[in-house]
This record gives sequence, structure tokens and C-alpha cells, in this order.
Amino acid sequence: MNILVTGGLGYIGSHTCVELLEHGYNVIVIDNLSNSKIEVKDYIKTITGKDINFVEGDVCNKQTVEHVFATYPVDAVIHFAAYKAVGESVHKPIAYYQNNLMSTLTLCEVMSKHNCKKFVFSSSATVYGDPKQVPIDETCEVGATTNPYGTSKVMNEQILQDVYISDPTWDVVLLRYFNPIGAHHSGLIGESPVGIPNNIMPYIAMVANKELPELHVFGNDYDTPDGTGVRDYIHVVDLAKGHVKALDYMTRQKVGVDAINLGTGNGYSVLELVQAFEKDNHIAVPYVIDPRREGDIAVCYAATDKAKDVLNWVAKKDIHDMVKDSWKFKMGLQGVVHEEN
Ligand code: NAD
Ligand code: UD1
Repeated sequence: MNILVTGGLGYIGSHTCVELLEHGYNVIVIDNLSNSKIEVKDYIKTITGKDINFVEGDVCNKQTVEHVFATYPVDAVIHFAAYKAVGESVHKPIAYYQNNLMSTLTLCEVMSKHNCKKFVFSSSATVYGDPKQVPIDETCEVGATTNPYGTSKVMNEQILQDVYISDPTWDVVLLRYFNPIGAHHSGLIGESPVGIPNNIMPYIAMVANKELPELHVFGNDYDTPDGTGVRDYIHVVDLAKGHVKALDYMTRQKVGVDAINLGTGNGYSVLELVQAFEKDNHIAVPYVIDPRREGDIAVCYAATDKAKDVLNWVAKKDIHDMVKDSWKFKMGLQGVVHEEN
């Protein structure tokens, strides 16, 4: 099967390319390198021994996408390409809506023309806003987002619903990721944001590496056991495997439109994450307590039953794997590149 992976050289996309190649899929990647580096293509080859077909280009550009579909017989699309910085989206809403919506619309238009109607979309737990209950299951209300990035994910989900309503021969899986961290155990691919990171794990890694003096813990007065925010951190390799399972699901049966959480079901506080990082990596992460960050919620973790029942997928890696692999990638270590699936 030929899978088009948009944004396939990015953080989650590159790990998904590895899993797809290791499961025998042919992979075509389109990426404009706005938030990734071309070297990732070679790292994917080093890890898997296989090549991806790479097209450098913008998914919002219809001619580029047409060219890809004219060149390769695409069977399904996994759509990662998007802008994803929450804070930046508040300052650049037009750029965020343009990129995050036009990419999906362009893909749907060209896919429809080429009769390719299997779509896996990178959504986010952010669509649930401040949840009324935890664990969050897929029936929880969606839409109370607090920033253009989050709103663009809700809008994308709606667009794909409407495309399906207009033509029920489509199959769409909306994967709602919780908090991806970690890296491939080879240490070759991982998350390397430009500048000062917004998300916690790259920030912790920079503090441990003495590139930043201390971690700012955003609030210790939440209604949680130690007062700091609780999140469902998920290893990026587990997340990547979830995409292969989503393709299996769509190949096995008619799906329609289905939203599925990808998380571990476990919540860890900021301080628990810091302590695990320090203990497992034998390195200090100095921190100070700051006021709460605007827009943050206290607790967020996934109900995982649907992913297990529908996709036959559960996250296997634990917090120790996550913190060790994050540090290994940061340190640029290169280890063994094969493991059991
Ligand atoms: P990333 O920035 O590392 O990867 C996105 C990739 O898409 C980059 O390689 C970038 O160059 C490319 N890209 C962006 N716009 C493009 C365009 N118009 N045309 C072609 N390529 C384009 O981000 P990521 O962390 O891998 O996230 C992937 C997807 O998962 C995104 O849709 C993101 O919103 C979603 N998501 C991420 C997280 C997270 O914590 N990382 C959580 C929930 C959802
Ligand atoms: C954020 C985004 C969410 C996105 C997700 C993954 C917001 C409001 N939400 O979620 O839309 O899908 O990233 O990309 O930004 N923390 C600190 N110090 C830091 C950074 C974070 O204490 O320097 C704390 C936060 O308060 C939170 C936890 O660490 O409790 C995780 O934060 P982060 O990694 O930014 O993810 P989320 O806020 O959960």
C-alpha cells in the first residue's frame, strides 16, 4: 500500500514513517521543511534500511499535491503537516488558519479527484478544552478551545465530518493525541524545536543540558496531589504505531468518521516528570515555581478503551522510556536501531 505522509519529516511524522516502512508500506512524504530538516530523511533510512519517496513542497499548493497524486498511486493519506505552536497561533491567527485549514482542504479536493478516500488526521486532546471529567473519552464535548491552533483542529475535524457527509465513501480517522514526548531509541530522530521551547520536555532537556538555567513550573496550586499540572505523556513511538493501527482499521472495515484518543491513560504531574527525568538520567533539572500559565488546565488524561477495542492498540512504553529516550536524543547518542515491535 502507498501512504502519503504530509509533514513526514517532522517530529511525529518521522517516527510514523519508520513504523510504516517497518510494516512494509511504501511511503511518500511531502514536507516544505518549515519546521524540519532534510537530514531526517537519511536518518529514517539509517533506522529502517529503506527509502521514502520525498517531495519538497507545500500541501496548500494544489499543483504540488496534484503532482504527487499523478506520480504515485496513493491509497491513503496521513496528514501531519500543520503549524503547532499554541502561543504563536495567538499572534499569527491568519497564518495558522491558512496553513492548517488550506492543507486539509487542498488534500481533500485532490484526493477526491483521484478517488483516494482514506484519511488519518492528526488531531489533539486540545479539542476537548477544559474537560468536565477525566479520563477524557471520545464522547466528551469538543470545541471550547482557547487559541487559534486548537480551534484549527476543531475546524479540521468538522471539515472532515462534512466531507464524509457529502460522500460516505470516505473513511476518516481523527486521532486525538495527548502529550507526545520521547524519541526513537536510536537517538537519531526526535523533537528539536527552534528557540525557547513552549512544551515541557524539550525545555527540561535544555535545562539538563545547561542551555537554560532552570525550569519554570507553571503553578503549584492546582487541585492535584502535588499542586502541579497533570498530563498524559505518551511516547512518540507508541503514538506512531497507533497510525499503523489506524490504517489497519480502515483496511479491515468501513469506518465512516471515527475520533480516537491516543494516550496512555496515566497522568503524571510536572514534578513527577522532572523527578523521573533526573533519576533515570542521573542529571539535575533545577526548577522554580512560577504562576500558572494562562490557558492551562489542571488535569488531562485519556480514556484509552476505544483505542484498545477499535484499533487493538495500547501504549506500551512507560515514563522511564520517555524520559530516557528524550535525553538520549538530546545528547545525540546513537544506539541500537532495531527493537521488537
Ligand atoms: P512538526 O512541526 O514537528 O511537524 C510538522 C511537519 O509539517 C514539519 O516537518 C513541517 O515542516 C511540515 N509542514 C508544516 N506545514 C506544511 C505545509 N503547508 N506543507 C508541507 N509541510 C508542512 O509537528 P509534530 O509535533 O510532528 O506534529 C504533527 C501533527 O500532530 C501536527 O498536525 C500537530 O498539530 C499534531 N499534534 C502534535 C502534538 C505535539 O505535541 N507534537 C500534539 C497534538 C497534535
Ligand atoms: C500544549 C498545548 C496543546 C498541545 C500540546 C502538545 C497549551 C495550552 N496547550 O499542551 O494544545 O496539543 O501542548 O503540543 O499550550 N509546563 C511547565 N513549564 C514549562 C512548560 C510546561 O510547568 O516550561 C507545564 C504545563 O503547565 C503543563 C505541563 O507542563 O502542566 C505540560 O505542558 P506542555 O508540554 O506545554 O503541554 P500542554 O500544555 O498540556
